[in-house]
Amino acid sequence: MTQSEIPSQSLAETGRGVQSPRPLTRSKSNPIKFVRSLLRLLKGRPQVPSSLAHHALLDVIMKRRSVRSFSEREIPDDVFAAILEAGRLAPSTVNLQSWSFAAFTAETWRATFERPLPFQGRRAIIVMGDTYRDRLVLDAFPQSPLIEYTIAVVNASLAAMNMNLAAEALGVSSVMLSETGRTGVLDARYLKQVLCLPDGVFPLLTIVFGYPRGSYPPLPPKLPLDQICFAQHYREPDRSVMEDWLAQMKAGYKASHLRSSFEAQLRLYESKIGRAESDLQAMVFRGERKER
Ligand SMILES: Cc1cc2nc3c(=O)[nH]c(=O)nc-3n(C[C@H](O)[C@H](O)[C@H](O)COP(=O)(O)O)c2cc1C
Repeated sequence: MTQSEIPSQSLAETGRGVQSPRPLTRSKSNPIKFVRSLLRLLKGRPQVPSSLAHHALLDVIMKRRSVRSFSEREIPDDVFAAILEAGRLAPSTVNLQSWSFAAFTAETWRATFERPLPFQGRRAIIVMGDTYRDRLVLDAFPQSPLIEYTIAVVNASLAAMNMNLAAEALGVSSVMLSETGRTGVLDARYLKQVLCLPDGVFPLLTIVFGYPRGSYPPLPPKLPLDQICFAQHYREPDRSVMEDWLAQMKAGYKASHLRSSFEAQLRLYESKIGRAESDLQAMVFRGERKER
């Protein structure tokens, strides 16, 4: 779809205003809806114009999936070095490079955290926002801790994606984790202690790498472009499209986690989020104010 094809009329313009929010997770299970949603999910494909069907980089981006089952095959040192180099060369605000990476083999991970890498991964990188290092030579954000934090999160996330795509291009699969195995932002305080992080260095996510065991999972339900992209003014999302997406998420989750559900997964996140919120507030803002 070209930009001119994207409808730009917003609900605000039509005078209908914002729809009242309704909790999206509340719904009864319905076997027919489940099967329909699952079939729709399985039909999902990347939408690439046929003229660009075999572009090498586009292919890597379109075929990437979060993989959660890895084989025992080791990732060679030069391949892992190239992945880290892709992170080092990522773009960043004023080239501040406000990130740090902690790199692990399966063995060093086990020695550090006293448990195996999630999903039998062979290597991992914990990606952190880092506002500590720059301060040795620069005080770029003296009165703006939120801006400084946000910029570091943006920069570190870009580095994470560079590493993710470099891995994919080299035939190595990966998954980013914020929760599983105490590896991300929800376990920031724990990671700060174990990794001896100074104030201003905050873990965001862990990328677990390995060669995939078995085939890639199907494309998870991605929202249509006309729901996420607008031309001039924000376009109010279509509730029926959102409900359809949610039904596909639930169906996909049920099909792959027979004893769990999408709702149960969200509740697991909720149970950790409250504590993680106060931990992170203290780590990112209070700690930094003390330093100044
Ligand atoms: C920042 C971030 C954190 C994530 N945390 C987890 C996680 O804790 N556990 C997990 O299984 N997947 C996690 N994922 C993977 C997402 O579930 C996955 O990207 C999403 O379902 C879309 O699937 P796709 O990557 O195959 O397109 C995370 C992804 C990102 C970007």
